[in-house]
Order: sequence, then structure tokens, then C-alpha cells
Amino acid sequence: MAHISVHDLPRATEVARVLAAHGFGELGRLLGLETATASVDKPVARRIRLALADLGPTFIKLGQVLSVRPDILPADVLEELAELQDNAPTVAWPAVKELLEEELGAPLESVFAQFEETPVASASIAQVHIAWLHDGTEVAVKVQRPNVEKTLRSDLHILYSIARMVEGNISFPGLYTPVEIIQEFEIAVFSELDFLQEAAAGERFRQLHGSVEGVVAPRVLRGHCTRRMLVMERIRGRRLNAVEGGSEEGKQLMRRLIQSWYLQLFEHGFFHGDPHPGNLMVREDGALCFLDFGLTGLLTAEMQDVMTAVFTGLVFRDAESVALAIYRAGATHERVDLKAFRGEIHRLMRKYEGASLSRLSESSSLVEFIAVAGRYRIQLPREFAVIARATSIVDGIARRLLPDVDIVAEVRPLAQRLMATRFGPERLGSDAFRVLQHAQAAFSDLPTQANQLLLDLERGRILVTTRDPESEELRVEIRHAAIRVSLAVCALALALSGTMLIAPWTPEIMAVPVFPVVGGGVCMVAMVMFTGLVVHWLFATRIHPRDWSRRLGAVARFFLGERGGGT
Ligand SMILES: Nc1ncnc2c1ncn2[C@@H]1O[C@H](COP(=O)(O)OP(=O)(O)O)[C@@H](O)[C@H]1O
Ligand SMILES: [Mg+2]
Repeated sequence: MAHISVHDLPRATEVARVLAAHGFGELGRLLGLETATASVDKPVARRIRLALADLGPTFIKLGQVLSVRPDILPADVLEELAELQDNAPTVAWPAVKELLEEELGAPLESVFAQFEETPVASASIAQVHIAWLHDGTEVAVKVQRPNVEKTLRSDLHILYSIARMVEGNISFPGLYTPVEIIQEFEIAVFSELDFLQEAAAGERFRQLHGSVEGVVAPRVLRGHCTRRMLVMERIRGRRLNAVEGGSEEGKQLMRRLIQSWYLQLFEHGFFHGDPHPGNLMVREDGALCFLDFGLTGLLTAEMQDVMTAVFTGLVFRDAESVALAIYRAGATHERVDLKAFRGEIHRLMRKYEGASLSRLSESSSLVEFIAVAGRYRIQLPREFAVIARATSIVDGIARRLLPDVDIVAEVRPLAQRLMATRFGPERLGSDAFRVLQHAQAAFSDLPTQANQLLLDLERGRILVTTRDPESEELRVEIRHAAIRVSLAVCALALALSGTMLIAPWTPEIMAVPVFPVVGGGVCMVAMVMFTGLVVHWLFATRIHPRDWSRRLGAVARFFLGERGGGT
């Protein structure tokens, strides 16, 4: 029997009853709560959706949160979950007012001149009201349902109990265990409960799009925001769904959406995780407006590199790069059959060969890539799963608004631009080490020696000979200096011997005049040294005859003195 606290028991019993009604009585039994399972004839995916809808806000939210995770759930379940509508009943005005005043710490009238009591939208976590500040600013106020956090916590206890029971009794084929799935949900849902985070994300998005024409996000009035109340500029306009497919307006909006999506993923590294049509509006002046920053993602430089490789690989039909990039991005706990994985990616790409992205997304191919990675037990960071699913949504919108346009052709210039920045000289120069690391990953299926070599290189165990032009110059300079010193010694010897030879007086030892004999000897030695030096210089250092004149010029300059430049 699971550890259900007395406190949670009534709710747990209710959960078990609903599960049983949709043919999941087994789960209730795991909790130790016996209920008769109804006989069912609908597909499992559909029954999951219906059960979650009946179980109420937390479970609807669970379905919605998981509907963006192709790395966790199979495609048929994702499709069902995407249909989960949270048409939660609106919270009555007195309760909303009480919560607002609690958040404001003051009467409503002290901040708002007017407040519409009927919300324009209501969902499982919050509802949105229109209001006016005293200075006349028209605002949209997103306010949390009272007690939503408390209910979520209690339901999470029950979800964890179910997950632990399932884990202990059923072997799970996926990359995530049931408990890990609930943990993922907990992270996502609790970050969505903090509207200060959402406010910061919204502002960040707005600033990053500051110079992007025709793409906006509502200005957030940070001073009025709290954890449970978000006050932002009201956007007047229509939902994106109201725009007619194939119309000029639709085409323009879609190009803006593609442009913005490209910027978010490849330049800002900060993206809207749920760009479905309900979170997009067309402002009265025609600008495309993003709403709802409850789910956003942040990409590291490495993740952006992976995205670039996958995107350009897809656009230029290079399965090899796509496979390697995905493999490199993931964590693997066991050996991956890289060859087979590559083959599978190849197969997926061939399946969509020659297709416009619109056909690509018909079976949500990006999501399929994530699923293939999962099958090969490559665990990708959650950002990639969210991006794959969000891109499929953007693509779905494109299919409606740009029905006859080959989207691959639309995005090809962007891919080309990306390639240019990725392989541009500055980038290669400053990122040489990262490039090396990437090479190491790319070579990982070469013989181990090659890998070892790259690892050794990375760890500095190999002496690398370099040809640095500066050190080369230094060597030449040192040789010149040595020769100059030798020549100076010769010159000194010659001067000494000359002096001795022309001296008017000379001591004699045993009738032999010392100066002429010593001077003549020194002179001969100096001549031999000088000749030797010149010969060595010209031949022994293997100077090409064509350089002789240059070298002789240097000798001449030495004796005649440098003109200009100085020594
Ligand atoms: N700033 C705004 N101006 C006008 N309408 C808004 C604004 N923000 C939200 N809405 C309306 O409220 C709906 C729900 O808001 P959203 O932030 O998406 O909440 P949820 O997280 O519940 O999806 C939107 O689809 C839109 O119709
Ligand atoms: Mg929304």
C-alpha cells in the first residue's frame, strides 16, 4: 500500500475512482484503493486525455506541461494532450478582489481607477482581467486562482505516490522514470506559479526584440507585479487564428514569426517555449505580439552550436551532421550504436526528402528526431525537446498562413547566414579550442587511437611544434649577430696584425723580429677565419645562390655601415 497521508486520502480516493472510470483501475489498486475498472473501448491516448480532463486543474496542467515533451511521451499521446483545454470555471469576483488586495497590500482603488470584473480569459492557473490605472493606462492583469498553489502541492503528493508505485511494479521503457516525469512537471509548474519570473522573462523578450520590426511583447509594469499578480500593457488586437490563411497579411505575419523564431533560437538564445496561436496576437497596427512567458527556455553557446548544426544539416540535407550534432548534445549512459542511429536519421530525412517544411511537420518530424534519439537512449537537455515541439507549432501556423510557400526555401538564406557566422574567421580564431573539442566528438567513431590522440592533445600531453614567424625572425637575427661578432673578431685581428707589421720598431728574440712574424701569423689566421666564415655563410647554411647577393650585401653593409635603419 502506498503512503497516502490521511490528509490526502479523500482526494486520492477520488483520483482512483476517475482513473478506474477510464480503464486505469490498475493504478488505483497500486495505491491500495480498490475500485471497479470500467470496460473501455477507446484508444489509450484518448483515455489518458479524458481522465486528466476529469481529474481537474492540476492534472490538466500535467497534461499540458507534458504535451510539450516529445522526449517523454509518444506522439499519439502528445497529440491528444495538446487538445486539453483548460476552460476552467472563472473565479467569482469577490475572491479575485480579495486576492488582488492581499497582493497589493492596499485597496484596489488605490492602484486601479477601473477594473473589469469579468475576465477575458481563464485557465487552470490564472485568469486575465482588463483594468485602468489612475493615469489612464489600460492594462491586462493576470491573477492567480486563489489556493492554486495549495491544491497543486496536495495533488503532487498523490502524483508522486502513484509514480513511485508504478515504478516499483512496472518496468518502464522510457528514458524518464515515472518519478522523474513528475519531477519535471513540478519544476515546470512551480516556475509558472511565480509571476515575477514571468514578468522578467516578458521584459527580456521585449528588450531583445526592441529593434525587430513588427514583433512585440506587452510592456510589463514591474512595480505593480507580485508573485501572484502580473500587470502589463493591454494589447488591443485579434488572435492570430483570426487571420485568414494565404492572405497578404497572413504572409507578412508569418515571415515575421519565422524571423523572430530564428532570432530567438540562433541569436538571442532565449525562446518562447509555447508559441501556440492562443499566445500570439495581431496588434491593431499589424504587429505580431507574443504573450504568456510562463514557459521560456535559455540556450547555452554549446546548445546553440548544436541547433545550428541540426538546422543547417536539415536545410542542406546532411544527415551525418544532424546525427552527430544530436549525439553530441545528449547524455548517454550506455554505448550507443552510432552507425545505426545515423542510419535512422538518414532514413527520417529521406522520408521527408524534397518536402517543404510544411510536409515535414505533418508528422511533426522534428519531434520524431527527438523520439529517435530517445530510442537510442540519448537523453537530450529538455530545451531541445521543447524547441522541437515549439518549432512544430510555428511550422503548423506557417502551414496555414503560407500554404503554397516552400518554407525550406524561405529559411535557406537564414541557414546560409548562420553558416557564414559559424565558420567565419573571427569565430574560428577565438573558438579554436571548442572547434577542437567538437572535432573530438565528431571523430568519436574513428579508431580509438584517433580519439586518444585528440584527448592527449586536449590534455597537453603532446609537444606541438609550431612555426611561429616571430621566432623564425629571432633565429635569423641571432645568426646574423653571431656572424657579426665573428667578423668583428677577424677585423680586430687584422687591425692588430697590420699595426704590428708597420710598427717602426720591433723587439727581437734570437735575431727574429717578433712583430712582423706574429703580425703575419695573426693576419694569416684572420684571413683564413674570414674566408671560412664567408664560405660557411654561403654554402654550409645552404643559402640558395639567388640569396648570395643579398647576403653579400649584408656583409658589405656591415663593413660600410648601415644606411638608414641603423644596426
Ligand atoms: N497583455 C494582454 N493584452 C490583451 N490580452 C491579453 C494580454 N495578456 C493576456 N491576454 C489574454 O489572455 C489570454 C490568456 O493569457 P496567457 O498569458 O496566455 O495566460 P495562460 O498562462 O493562462 O495561458 C490570452 O490568450 C489573451 O487572450
Ligand atoms: Mg497562454
